Amino acid sequence: MTAAISVRGIEKSFADLTVLRGVDFDVAPGSIFALLGSNGAGKTTLVRILSTLLKADAGSATVAGADVASQANAVREAISLTGQFAAVDEILTGRENLILIAQLRHLKNPGAIADDLLARFSLTDAGGRRAGTYSGGMRRRLDIAMSLIGEPSIIFLDEPTTGLDPQARIEVWQTVKQLAEGGTTVLLTTQYLDEAEQLADRIAILHQGRIIQNGTLAELKALLPSGGEPILVPKEPSLEDVFLALVGDPTPTEATSGKAES
Ligand SMILES: Nc1ncnc2c1ncn2[C@@H]1O[C@H](COP(=O)(O)OP(=O)(O)OP(=O)(O)O)[C@@H](O)[C@H]1O
Ligand SMILES: [Mg+2]
Repeated sequence: MTAAISVRGIEKSFADLTVLRGVDFDVAPGSIFALLGSNGAGKTTLVRILSTLLKADAGSATVAGADVASQANAVREAISLTGQFAAVDEILTGRENLILIAQLRHLKNPGAIADDLLARFSLTDAGGRRAGTYSGGMRRRLDIAMSLIGEPSIIFLDEPTTGLDPQARIEVWQTVKQLAEGGTTVLLTTQYLDEAEQLADRIAILHQGRIIQNGTLAELKALLPSGGEPILVPKEPSLEDVFLALVGDPTPTEATSGKAES
């Protein structure tokens, strides 16, 4: 099967700061690929290169079969990008934000498209309110909804849940899973191990300019030597388990089932 995203030897420096030193990976169509790395690792830089906003110094990449350097228009037609910082217009309502994008894309029935997306992202009640009044989670959902207009086959999400509370993160995770189930290829960046663990079919770790590991969660876990005889102790609940049990999770999902039992 042809990869939805294929990256070979990508290098990028800013003046004398070398950020990417030769990045290679493939993303299968309809899968969720998580790019994991600490602050400044170069995640956003790589996403900007793959979404044609920035030129690489060396190497090549194809997205939806098109070369990011020589076929930028074809790449742009196939993708959407949700940047690290939410791009919604705060003066407009949620619905107006969606309509604006649908109009910019010259789609028919922008109002119907907006209403459909508001419903899919549980924003119908908030749709008539100015986006400036939305919570961080609602704003993120609106941002992702806006990026889906025009039905891109590949979406880039740069740190989709940074700054969100645990419930809002789970809502975004559900959205991302649904997208992949519908056949969309998702490349997301994250600093959160649990996010990659919950969502990704494959996880790649970007460190010092290179992908130092790339595999499924099971493959990555198998890298650690097992510690001999298993020790049977009851599992301590995580802080997230406790938080969700106390605050209540209105929409139990795969992400929480088997964890928080209230
Ligand atoms: N346009 C630019 N000019 C100069 N330096 C830049 C530019 N863009 C990024 N950098 C530098 O490149 C490095 C990688 O930045 P990048 O934003 O890709 O990291 P990141 O992995 O997305 O980090 P974070 O997790 O904080 O978002 C950083 O040291 C950053 O300061
Ligand atoms: Mg970044």
